[in-house]
Amino acid sequence: MKTALLSALLASILLAQTNHNTTETSKVPDIQMPDNNLSFKGIEGYQNYKVIATHFRVDKNELRYILVNSIAYQALKNGQKPLPDGSKVVKIGWSVKKMSMWPDALEADKIQRIEYMVKDSQTFNHQGDHWGYARFIKTENGYKAWDKGVQSCISCHSSVQENDYLFTNPQKLF
Ligand code: HEC
Repeated sequence: MKTALLSALLASILLAQTNHNTTETSKVPDIQMPDNNLSFKGIEGYQNYKVIATHFRVDKNELRYILVNSIAYQALKNGQKPLPDGSKVVKIGWSVKKMSMWPDALEADKIQRIEYMVKDSQTFNHQGDHWGYARFIKTENGYKAWDKGVQSCISCHSSVQENDYLFTNPQKLF
């Protein structure tokens, strides 16, 4: 009985959160990366992108969602890689905290960062990747564009060149 009640409660919370996430219209700040001019506005509406994977970074204690726009989603569904121009892959990172109602479970707490990759073969070509990289860090006063350069993004992601420079593979749902 208790379990049934609890799962009903959890389900309704989850549903409320889902609605919240999908209907929220974003008003992202008008900021851009200093080195490649990619703007936060470039992913306006990302809340409605499709979540394809969830990661947990143990060393950073950070929960991550990977979301893709419809161009990338269609391509992934068709097994098409490299992804086509116009594909956008977004990563949201949250700190985690114990759930107040169930401390053995963790839940997302504060957003730490939002970052994205956009496929644009006209603009980007770091040894054939055709991806542009952007990261926006959440601070107490809103978001701030990453100012330490995208070279580190390029270098680390080049280690998964054979997977179109993506670490993510869509998570199975069934
Ligand atoms: C030292 C390695 C490293 C660096 C540097 C790095 N990443 Fe990643 N990135 C990863 C790993 C590992 C994942 C998958 C795990 C995760 O979600 O954190 C990932 C995932 C991503 C994803 C989701 C798509 C994918 O490839 O799985 C995006 C978008 C992304 N990173 C953007 C960036 C941006 C933008 C930068 C630079 C500001 C950056 N990354 C720097 C290692 C790195």
